[in-house]
Amino acid sequence: MKIATQTKPPILRKCFLLFLLLSVPLFLLLLLSLQPKRQQRTTTDPTPEKLSYGSGDLKIRPGYDSYESYIQRQLKKTLNPKLREVWTTRDWDRKIQVFALFFEDLKRKRLLLNESKALCIGARVGQEVEALRRIGVSDSVGIDLVPSPPLVIRGDFHNQPFDNETFDFEFSNVFDHALYPHRFVAEIERTLKPGGVCVLHVALSRRSDKYSANDLYSVKPLVEMFKGSEVVRIRKVDGFGLDTEVVFRKNIPILRS
Ligand SMILES: *[C@@H]1O[C@H](CO)[C@@H](O)[C@H](O)[C@H]1NC(C)=O
Ligand SMILES: *[C@@H]1O[C@H](CO)[C@@H](O)[C@H](O)[C@H]1NC(C)=O
Repeated sequence: MKIATQTKPPILRKCFLLFLLLSVPLFLLLLLSLQPKRQQRTTTDPTPEKLSYGSGDLKIRPGYDSYESYIQRQLKKTLNPKLREVWTTRDWDRKIQVFALFFEDLKRKRLLLNESKALCIGARVGQEVEALRRIGVSDSVGIDLVPSPPLVIRGDFHNQPFDNETFDFEFSNVFDHALYPHRFVAEIERTLKPGGVCVLHVALSRRSDKYSANDLYSVKPLVEMFKGSEVVRIRKVDGFGLDTEVVFRKNIPILRS
């Protein structure tokens, strides 16, 4: 080795040293440019969240560089004409019947009343809203990125278009579509009346579709995020690929005299 380098012409050795000297700063620059691009979100975004929660039981899927690209992807599913056709024809009655059974059960437990003002979050064409109305919960409405009158009005679940303390009951089976789960939950707690009930159907044991923005592996992160509520019940269900029902009740503030 030593012999080999010594036989090199001095000019080559100088070139090699110069190369070394130049490559160190270049290498550092490269490292810097590979740092995660955290600051690229636009100002219209909800508060950026971390990618993993609690014990890692809630993971945000990577791959959205902006809130706009996330919305565009969600719209792709919601506006898919083939899917909408299936939702409003083949799926319509079958799904309404299954939703009605879930809601009847909640009524028996007095977690939902005919008089409840009810919201369905991410309701697409509104099968769950129709189910609520059919079983007597007449003051119910849905929100989704695309409206579907008369059951579903336009609304982003990260920024619900309602005043504080509007609803007695909120239902959603699209938690996995939330890019900002904390916002999703905080908006529910904001728009629920004190004592109001939130029912979520989630998938714990099955990974959902490519439009999902997060993966949930236990109810723990949910319980942690519903800071202003108590867990009423958790049970296994069979709800269109979703396997777990979690019911929260928003706390009623204690009045001090
Ligand atoms: C709720 O509404 C349903 C459907 O209209 C009706 O059959 C039922 O008796 C009502 N329940 C109560 C407790 O009023
Ligand atoms: C609505 O609720 C949010 C969050 O709980 C709170 O920060 C805000 O001040 C409330 N707004 C009004 C008008 O009460």
